[in-house]
Amino acid sequence: MNSFGRKFKISIFGESHGKSVGVTVDGCPPGIKLDEADFLGDLDRRRSGAKGTTPRLESDLPEIISGVFNGFSTGAPITVVFKNEDTRSKDYSKLVDHPRPGHADFTAFKKFNGFNDYRGGGHFSARLTLALVSAGVIAKKIIQPIDIHAKLKSVHGNTDIEQEIDDAIGKGESVGGIVECIATNLPIGLGEPFFDSVESVISHLVFAIPATKGIEFGSGFEAAQMYGSQHNDLIVDKSGKTKTNHAAGINGGITNGNELVFRIAVKPTSSISKAQGTFNMKTGKVENLMIGGRHDVCVALRVPVILEAITAIALADFFLISGMEKNQK
Ligand SMILES: Cc1cc2nc3c(=O)[nH]c(=O)nc-3n(C[C@H](O)[C@H](O)[C@H](O)COP(=O)(O)O)c2cc1C
Repeated sequence: MNSFGRKFKISIFGESHGKSVGVTVDGCPPGIKLDEADFLGDLDRRRSGAKGTTPRLESDLPEIISGVFNGFSTGAPITVVFKNEDTRSKDYSKLVDHPRPGHADFTAFKKFNGFNDYRGGGHFSARLTLALVSAGVIAKKIIQPIDIHAKLKSVHGNTDIEQEIDDAIGKGESVGGIVECIATNLPIGLGEPFFDSVESVISHLVFAIPATKGIEFGSGFEAAQMYGSQHNDLIVDKSGKTKTNHAAGINGGITNGNELVFRIAVKPTSSISKAQGTFNMKTGKVENLMIGGRHDVCVALRVPVILEAITAIALADFFLISGMEKNQK
């Protein structure tokens, strides 16, 4: 469904070319200082406009319509709404019969019996990540003093990001990238042994970021090539600090007080300007497809702040479950 969380519950709504998109956060404790200006910094980091991102320009101004009174959260559900203003729906009419390879056009049409709003990807659009970033702003306040930073490490396998973006633009191509996220100042004890391990919950939310195809924690897939003596993180003091951090700050699904470190793989944008094949649903033939509309050449450029947000959402849920937020006051 479109909701996630046990104590810090988020529900996201809207479509790319509908009236608005937004989020309702239920379970936010009362007394958190919050107003619209608090969202602007992270929303700005998500914004398009830079080279390699879509030319669609939205004001992305948040409107809090419930759950905040006199500048503080009340404990009631908080709803934040964003208007869609810069839409060009005609660019998408062809996609009803010509599903874009790699996009959700085909699966959405089949699953929702053709009633889905296909304009701009509809409910599958990355416009919905405004909702994730907004919930993340609230979550970041709850989990203080935890600090979360995500960074784009490479694009198309190269750390020279600008060169890869220029190359992709020149070729009418798109490219993916690796984004790394690090959280510091974590308490020991967040997470549960099996189904609600910190890795599981973060991964669940990570795949809510459209175009995410992989995740690895700490040494990740490289762990499979290491000896135990290389991979084991030696504890060097009473606080549980370790000499290395191959485990990414998690043992048995539970935070051990060291840095939480993980990386995600973001695929190349499926909507490319180069001609490609598609199956025409009307004629029953494979045909050439030229995709119109405005698209990100590299989605990964805009992912870091979204990744921070989903990490904060996961940790806020763990915090509220553990009752740790009460000890902070
Ligand atoms: C910030 C961001 C921007 C995106 N921009 C585009 C875009 O301009 N064009 C496009 O085809 N896909 C874009 N995507 C990816 C699609 O939303 C995604 O590929 C699609 O919904 C199908 O989901 P999947 O790739 O996870 O299977 C973007 C994703 C993110 C996170």
